[in-house]
Amino acid sequence: MEISSTALFSPAALAARTTVSDPFTSIAVDQDERMLPLLDLESEIIRLKVELNAIILAHYYQESDIQDVADVVGDSLELSRRAAETNADVIVFAGVHFMAETAKILNPAKQVLLPDANAGCSLADGCPPELFGKFLARYPRHTVVSYINTSAAVKAMSDIICTSSNAAKIVSQIPIDQPIVFAPDRNLGRWVMKQTGRDMVLWPGACIVHETFSLRKIAQLREQHPQAELIAHPECEEPILRIADFVGSTSALLRRVKESAASEFIVATEPGILHAMHAAMPGKLIIPAPPESNCACNECPHMRLNTLEKVYLAMKRRSPEITMDEGLRQRALLPIQRMLEMS
Ligand code: 13P
Ligand code: SF4
Repeated sequence: MEISSTALFSPAALAARTTVSDPFTSIAVDQDERMLPLLDLESEIIRLKVELNAIILAHYYQESDIQDVADVVGDSLELSRRAAETNADVIVFAGVHFMAETAKILNPAKQVLLPDANAGCSLADGCPPELFGKFLARYPRHTVVSYINTSAAVKAMSDIICTSSNAAKIVSQIPIDQPIVFAPDRNLGRWVMKQTGRDMVLWPGACIVHETFSLRKIAQLREQHPQAELIAHPECEEPILRIADFVGSTSALLRRVKESAASEFIVATEPGILHAMHAAMPGKLIIPAPPESNCACNECPHMRLNTLEKVYLAMKRRSPEITMDEGLRQRALLPIQRMLEMS
C-alpha cells in the first residue's frame, strides 16, 4: 500500500491524496499474518534490516518492543536529523505519519515505510491546509513558524519548521519587529511566547493526549510524593506548565531524569517515554501523570497503532510506503532545511 504525503484525515487532504494501491492479494496478506505467532519477530526484523539495508527510527512514544528493536530512538528533531543523515536504502519510521513524511521529504530517493498507514496526529489533522491557507491570508506580512506536527501541505505554506526541542531557539532568531504566526499547537505556542517574550498569532490547535492530564490528580500525587519533580511536555495545557518544575521535549525530559538530583518524577507526557527513562535510571521512581478519567487516554492512539508485528510486516511487504508529489516535497523541504540550519 502507498500512502500519500498530505494529511491523512481531512476531506480535502483525502481528495488530494496520491495513489493508494495494495500490490498484495488478500491471500498473501492472510498468510503473512497467519505466520506471525510462529516467528521470532525480533530476529526476523534484524534479518530484514540487513536484507533491505534498512534503518529503524522509533519515537519515544512507541511501545517498548519497538524501541528495543530500533536503531535510533529519539524525539522528533533527533529523528529528522538521523533521517537526513542515514545511508540506509530503506527507512522504517516507527512513529506517526508526519514524522515518516518528513523523512521522505528529506530523502526522496529512499523508501520510507510507516508500519500503520493510519498513524496520524491530532495536531496535524486539526490544521487542514485549505483552512490554514485562509487563516494565513489574514496575516500576509507574518513569518510563519509551524511545528513539525503538520502535513507536508502545511509545511509548504510555512517559512520555518520547528519541533518542541528547538521552537524557542528558532523564534528568538526572527528579527524582533517581524510579526509571527505560530501553528498548530497553541500550548507550545504560548510556552514559546513566555520563553522568548515574543507576541505571536496562534493557530488554535491542541494535542488530544496532552490535554487529558488532570491538574487535580497531579496535585494529589505531589502531596504523596513531595520530593518528586513534575516534568512536562510543552504540549500540556498552561495550568500544568505553570506548576511544572521542568518543561521540555521528550528527549529533554529524558535528559532531566538523568541529570537532576531528584529521585522521583511525575511525567506529564505520553507514557511510552517511561521505557527509556527506566532503562537510563533504573533506581529512580518515575510516575506517569494521570488523565482525569480512568482511561488510557494519556497514550497516543496514533502512535500506539504501530506494533512489532506491523513493523515486521511493513519490512516484509515493503508497504505501507510514503509517496509524495515532487513539487510539494520541494516546497515542504525549504522550511525543514531552515529549521535544521537554525537549530
Ligand atoms: P517531541 O518533539 O518531543 O518528539 O514531541 C513530538 C510529539 O508528537 C509530542 O506529542
Ligand atoms: Fe500527535 Fe499528540 Fe500523538 Fe504527539 S501525542 S503524535 S502531538 S496526537
